[in-house]
Formats: sequence, C-alpha cells, structure tokens
Amino acid sequence: MCGIIGYRGKREASEILFEGLKKLSYRGYDSWGLCTSSENKFSVSKAIGNIEQMDIDYSMFAGNIGIGHTRWATHGGVSEANAHPHLCSLEKVAVVHNGVIENFQDLRSELKSNGHKFKSETDTEVIPHLIREYMDKGADFVDAVRSALLRLEGSFAVVAINTEDDTMVASRRGSPLVVGMGDNEYFAASDIPAFLEHTKSVIYLYDNDVAIINDNVYVYNLSDMQPVRREVDSIEWDVEKSMKGEFSHFMLKEITEQSETIKKAAEQDAEAMKRIALEINNAKGVFFVACGSSYHACLSASYIFSAVAKMHINVVLASEFRGYKDFLCDKTLVIAVSQSGETADVLDAVGTAKEKGSKVLSIVNVMGSSLMRNSHHTLHMNAGPEICVLSTKTYTSQLAVLTLLAYACIDKYEDGTGVLDTAHNLVYNLTSRSTRDYIKCLADILKDKEHIFTIGRGLQYPTALEAALKIKEVSYIHAEGFAAGELKHGSIALIEKDTPVIAFVSPQNERETVSNVMELKARGAFIIGIGPDNNEIYDYFIKVPETGYSDPITQIIPIQILAYRLAVLRKCNPDKPRNLAKSVTVR
Ligand code: F6R
Repeated sequence: MCGIIGYRGKREASEILFEGLKKLSYRGYDSWGLCTSSENKFSVSKAIGNIEQMDIDYSMFAGNIGIGHTRWATHGGVSEANAHPHLCSLEKVAVVHNGVIENFQDLRSELKSNGHKFKSETDTEVIPHLIREYMDKGADFVDAVRSALLRLEGSFAVVAINTEDDTMVASRRGSPLVVGMGDNEYFAASDIPAFLEHTKSVIYLYDNDVAIINDNVYVYNLSDMQPVRREVDSIEWDVEKSMKGEFSHFMLKEITEQSETIKKAAEQDAEAMKRIALEINNAKGVFFVACGSSYHACLSASYIFSAVAKMHINVVLASEFRGYKDFLCDKTLVIAVSQSGETADVLDAVGTAKEKGSKVLSIVNVMGSSLMRNSHHTLHMNAGPEICVLSTKTYTSQLAVLTLLAYACIDKYEDGTGVLDTAHNLVYNLTSRSTRDYIKCLADILKDKEHIFTIGRGLQYPTALEAALKIKEVSYIHAEGFAAGELKHGSIALIEKDTPVIAFVSPQNERETVSNVMELKARGAFIIGIGPDNNEIYDYFIKVPETGYSDPITQIIPIQILAYRLAVLRKCNPDKPRNLAKSVTVR
C-alpha cells in the first residue's frame, strides 16, 4: 500500500529519493518522509499531504545513502509523527516499511519496558527500536536487522540504514520489493517506476530474501543467511510511459493509450495460449478470482467464455474465495487476474487454491510480482506502467487477454485476435479529442448530481458495474450499477425526476434493455444511452458501434472519459482519489 525507496550510490541521495517518492505516490499519499545519512547523523524531513504538490530544500540533506516513504495510513492516523522513516530512540537506525506487523503491540510493550521511547502510533516503529536493541547487545547492523525481522509476524517490505556505516538492508515477506542495479549505485523500492529513469536492471526479491546493499548487492535467505542466487532482469518499460508528458493527468494519458495497449495485450505467444487453453479445457472446474475492476473484467469474460467456448466459469471475489475451498481439488484451475499482482486478497485466494493442490494461472501487468511467482503459469497484459490509481488501460488489457483465451479454448485463437483488431481501431476513435469534447458536455450536465445509476444486461451488465465504480471512485458522486432487469426489484425506488441513468445497450439485448429504460423514464430519469443505435427515449446518446465480444472493451471507454471529466470539474485529483491506493496489500 505504501511506497518505499532506498538509494545507495555516488550521488546526493535526497533528490533521487524525493523524485522517486513522487513516482511512487500512487501507492499512498497521506504523508511522506525521507532521511539521508552522512557523517554519523541523519537528516530527516516529513510532511502531511501529497508529495507531488511539494518542494523541499535539498541543502538540508547530505549523504549518498538514504530512504524515503509515501504513506497510506493503516496503524495510526495521518500525522507527521506517524509518517516514515521511523528512527530508534538514539536516532542511529532508520527504517521505512510497507505491510502490517501483526504482533507490534507485544513488541512495543517489550521494547518500552526496555527503555525505548516511541514517538508514533505505528506498527513500524517497533522495527528500528528492535534493530537498535540487538545492536546494543553486540550484533552488527546486518545481524541486528535480521534478528529484528525474524521477530516480526505479518507482512513487510523493509529498507533500513544506520549512521555507523553505509550499508543498506532490504528485505521482504508478503509485500513487494525490487532492487535496481545502476552504475555503482543501487536502489530498493516497492515498485519499478521509482527508479526507472536511473536503471532498467532489476533484481526481484522473493519472500524471506534479505539484500545487503553496500559496494554491491548480496542476497541471502533471511532464516539461515545462506546466499541465494537471483537473476538480474531487464525491464522493457519506457521511461516516457511513467511520465505524464503533454497530459494534465495520468488518468487521461492512460485512457488514450488504450488503442495501443489493447494491441499489445493481443500480442501473446499463440502456442503458450493454446497450451493454457488445453489446461482450461481439461480442468474439472475453473475459477476466475480477482478484486475491483479486475473482478469486473472476469465477470465480463465469464459471459464471453459461456458464449464463445460454451464453458461455465465460476467468478469469485478474491476476498470471498476461501468460502469455496471445499470445491477445489488437484484438477481445478484457478485463474487469478490482477494488475499489480500484489493484491493481498488475490494472493490469499491463490494460497487457498495451492493448499488444495489446484493449478494457478495468473494474468498480471507488473512483472516479477508476488502473484506471478506464486502461479504455475502467467500471461502478461503488457500494458506498461499504470500510474493513475484507477485502472483504465489494464482493465481493457485484462479483457483482451481473457477474450483471446476464450477463443483459444475452441481452437480459434486467430478469430480472437480479429475481434480485438476491431476493438483496437474503434478505441482509437473513442479516445480522440472530438469524442472527449463531446463527453465533456455530458460531464457538465452531471457534475452536480448526487447519484448516477448504470444498467446493462448480459455482457453489458459487468460494464455497468465497472462504469459505476469508475464514476464513484474518482468523482465521489454516488454511482451504482445494476443488471437492467434487476432495478425494478427494489432500487427503482431511488429514481426521481432527472436522476441520471446510463444504459449500456447492444443489438442482442436492445429490446429488453429499452423496456427497462422506459420504466425508468416513466419515473422521470434522465437517460444516457451507450450503444450502436440511438433511440428517441434517450436524453443523451453516445454512439459506440457494435463490436460483439469486444463490447466490454469499447463501451467502457466513454465512461472512463466521463469519470475523468467529472473528477476534474469537481476539483478531485483523478490520479489519486481520496482513501485509495494503487495496490491493496492489506486484507
Ligand atoms: C479500480 C481499481 C481497483 C483494482 C483492485 C484490484 O479502478 O483499480 O478496483 O482493480 O484493487 O487491483 P489489482 O488488479 O492490482 O489486483
């Protein structure tokens, strides 16, 4: 949830850390802090608020080694005292942490009774005090960090430094951490964009790895300190992809990238897809598991699998998956879909599946993620870094990969790529400036509304759910999605004069959906139709030509744009909605 970065090298650390934190702020933006070390003392700065809008005075800092953190509060409110880095009482050890220390209360009482003075309410603060405790007992810094980490229950990605030498220690269990290998300089961060402009060579740390970073990087197993071999991987992502460029926000940039990213998602290895299709066909029970937008992509795909491959897929929210464990066996295939590959609920679900001997296929965007490592096979979305907290381009990439898989299951992979080709061309038009301007007018009409409802049938139903999520999470207008036929079973009570309802329509379900729309119109609703054909019943119409099984990809685009416009008009930050973080690494 939080973003962490560490630097050890030949340059001044403060600017690299500060700029790196800005790139990580999508992981959490309640508060931030950084600390550098030089001549046996730390320089520390912390602040509340979003780092992107701030400047710091680099002359306050000295040192070629340091750590930084951008926070998404879990234990303890949003305050400077709770912002990381946290230091030991003597200010000789500093730590940044992502994750949750479950036994922090016991450790805190123990450390307090040993004389350690706590300044924050966080679980993290036990770590620097514990490290110092072991150093006071004679351990060197690395041993002390190891002993401290072995006492922790829960999840962590930790980077620690001290004032006595230039060693940085980075370790993880259950939270992401990657080491960047520059030219005589090293980085440790929760995500690659933090240091992408400095190096594209990375080592992905595994759970229970501890990396000792001084004149080089040495990786050991935390339990027995035996060296472990980790490959240096090369990242293909472009630096430009992690920059806003001419766009005012990442959200808009990522929306407009979709024509390209759908194409990239379709560039799968056809043979690998066919092998996976065989596994799907041979499985006794297939589950899609995911959260949020990724779950909506799975729900759409279940309709496509049903129609194209005549196959029933169970679609389960990852956080609810444990309840299905009695249906799992070694013949079950679990397909876990996640942009980040770090969502705790998804990782838990995969853990449950593996306990029962089930096979796990994952579809992920972030290379080297925990989910990838915990899966038997992985398909990549190839969407490049998605910086906006909301998923837009990765949602359509997930749909693209899942659509291809459905076609691969009936040995018609090439037909799948054909379907995506049509979508790719259409998305180019749908994200053009003229369409964006047209949707701006709709945003003006809707910007002061209290509620927006979205409806759809069949393949359009998951799109309605995703549309409502996009609108509410970024504009804070209450939005709710329904199966078009379901609204009349209760929620229609909320429809009043001018209540906006967005209806997703396709020729396959037009008659039924329009009749549901009439029920709403009769109660005064303001109807926005999205589909291939206009209808006099609509008050506003956005034309999206029919693309069959690619409708979930194409029909969501106008709503992504609408959600973005509503956020801008309502003065909400589209890239960083309140209370949200890009990867949800807590349960
Ligand atoms: C919504 C959004 C979230 C994520 C969800 C799962 O715009 O981004 O709902 O889809 O948190 O995240 P991943 O796909 O990383 O597992």
